Amino acid sequence: MKNSTIMNIEGQSNFLVDYAKYQFRKKTKLLPLLIVTFVIFLFAIPYYTKDFNTGSFINDFNDEYISPIPVKSSQDSKCPHYKIMLFISSEMEHIEKRMLMREELFGIADNLVPCMKQDTPEIFYKFLIKKKERIKDDDDFMRNFLSEQMEYNDIGEISPQGNDDWHQALLKHSKILQETCISFDHLVMIDEFTMINLEKLQNQISSSKIANQTISNTQKMVWGSFNSNITDEMAIIVGQSAIQPILDHSNYKSTNYTSILSRFYHHHFNHPNEKIPDDLILINDPISIVEWPNSIKSIPCVDCVIAIGHVYQDWEIRKIRDKLSIQVVIPCNVRTDIEMYSKNTSKLRPKIAVMTSSFLYKDNCMLEAAPISAQNKREYAEKHGYAFVSRSSEFVQQLYRKRNLVWGKIDAVEKVLPYYEWLIWLDMDAIFVNRSLSIESLLKMSEEKVGGKKEFSKINFIVARPIGDDMINAGVFLIRNSEWARDFIRAGIQARRDRAYRGMKEQQAMRDAIKRPNWKPNVLYLNGDDHTINTFPDRYVRGDYIVHYAPEEGCPANPVLGGITKVKLLEESPDNEVELPF
Ligand SMILES: *[C@@H]1O[C@H](CO)[C@@H](O)[C@H](O)[C@H]1NC(C)=O
Ligand SMILES: *[C@@H]1O[C@H](CO)[C@@H](O)[C@H](O)[C@H]1NC(C)=O
Ligand SMILES: *[C@@H]1O[C@H](CO)[C@@H](O)[C@H](O)[C@H]1NC(C)=O
Ligand SMILES: *[C@@H]1O[C@H](CO)[C@@H](O)[C@H](O)[C@H]1NC(C)=O
Ligand SMILES: *[C@@H]1O[C@H](CO)[C@@H](O)[C@H](O)[C@H]1NC(C)=O
Repeated sequence: MKNSTIMNIEGQSNFLVDYAKYQFRKKTKLLPLLIVTFVIFLFAIPYYTKDFNTGSFINDFNDEYISPIPVKSSQDSKCPHYKIMLFISSEMEHIEKRMLMREELFGIADNLVPCMKQDTPEIFYKFLIKKKERIKDDDDFMRNFLSEQMEYNDIGEISPQGNDDWHQALLKHSKILQETCISFDHLVMIDEFTMINLEKLQNQISSSKIANQTISNTQKMVWGSFNSNITDEMAIIVGQSAIQPILDHSNYKSTNYTSILSRFYHHHFNHPNEKIPDDLILINDPISIVEWPNSIKSIPCVDCVIAIGHVYQDWEIRKIRDKLSIQVVIPCNVRTDIEMYSKNTSKLRPKIAVMTSSFLYKDNCMLEAAPISAQNKREYAEKHGYAFVSRSSEFVQQLYRKRNLVWGKIDAVEKVLPYYEWLIWLDMDAIFVNRSLSIESLLKMSEEKVGGKKEFSKINFIVARPIGDDMINAGVFLIRNSEWARDFIRAGIQARRDRAYRGMKEQQAMRDAIKRPNWKPNVLYLNGDDHTINTFPDRYVRGDYIVHYAPEEGCPANPVLGGITKVKLLEESPDNEVELPF
């Protein structure tokens, strides 16, 4: 089974289309003519090489089409399989670009209803950035980047090994994903300056008609825009079965091309009678994958466009999306319904959200611990099918609201609550220590505490006062989406401008509100309760749910990290003794 194909389509104009096709036997020395590119001509130069000893082209096509689909993925339901694995290369610093891409490609403008699992069969995406030295003092950017990572969970960091070029690192990364049981048909690599029509791409792949050619096996194709070493970084589509053969031939040298894919393409373009490893199909297609010519009018074939690269201005990305009617592709089922919670809310949507802050203070105290603490909560939410929502922007905006930054918590809860039935808030320095306990069972226990379903239906807020404290602890609480809650937050807490900077601020406002007759009857006040929802590390007893490291002074980072280690130990073997403080 040998049939190797190179296709090269070059063109600057769409009024003259021509294809030159050459067929020849592999072993003959007959070289196809190297054709001087005429500025106004389009060329397609497919080369078909056949070994006539091994059956017909059609049979090859049939065998090959079936074999590359991983058997594992279709049988093992635990291993997700995607049609497209999309890697978006990005610079760590370019947070705004990633926000733009999330919105324009996937319709993700916020994380109020987060994409916890990319669970559609269509696409799995990740931003991939080059790993860098982090933790620089007073680095606003690093804080923002960590917040983004905690909020979106769609960024991977990779460091190319040795002399690997970036594409090589990406291909290797896709192999690693496959080893960890994520499989896919096609790997699509774009950079953050490329607008891509994913729906159209998928349709073209399904039809097997790429660049006007019928491709016998799209899983063996390498489809890009290879005319220069800057167009090859815009968008490249690589069939799943092409990845390993390319990695196996990283030694092709080229002075002008660094990308392993370009080197592979150009090597075989320049050596047309050399067999292409594994009969890969190489497609150079600057008509569908175009470099932004600054105006849509200058695109030779607008209908052909799959991706436009080198678009550096955000408004142009938006405009291209509009003008080319590019639809967003939703990468997770929950986001097919992102309205506020109602009786009509999709069953796919979780009813409970676990919320925390992803805001990092300038003292950098939690720089290291924050992502790990967020992970403790994210995993808990994943385990029980809840949403995990961490927010930082509401903290940032307190500067303008003219309140202490801690009020961000109240803004964040007020914003997120309408999307869920119940919400549990944990400060960054509080962690789940018993992750087998569900919120449903906690609510059930609370129901018993207040004397039944009917009584509990009136409860909208659950908070504890630790023994010895003269005030509630607002680091952990549960709140129910209700008219009551809206009024409680608006009139009870937010209205307290007098506490904007003073005393215990939002906590004091909350404490005052739950004592007032209009809100008091609807609060489950866990008075002098150190174990139900809020436990200090030295008071931990087995079975406790959340440990809250709220030190009188100093940074809670190390105790939090230590606590998370203990959580893991307990989860591995529940009989382990834990030393106190937890
Ligand atoms: C496909 O063919 C059409 C019509 O001949 C032409 O306009 C277009 O540029 C071709 N597409 C590609 C990707 O070459
Ligand atoms: C590299 O690029 C230069 C300038 O475009 C060209 O003259 C030369 O032939 C290229 N070399 C190879 C190996 O393609
Ligand atoms: C890209 O190609 C040009 C010549 O066409 C060459 O001068 C340049 O060094 C190449 N860049 C890389 C990154 O290979
Ligand atoms: C729920 O759906 C029904 C029927 O489609 C509709 O009449 C009603 O307005 C919807 N309610 C809300 C709150 O969206
Ligand atoms: C977690 O909570 C469950 C249910 O209350 C309990 O059975 C279990 O022992 C607890 N585990 C730990 C490690 O505290």
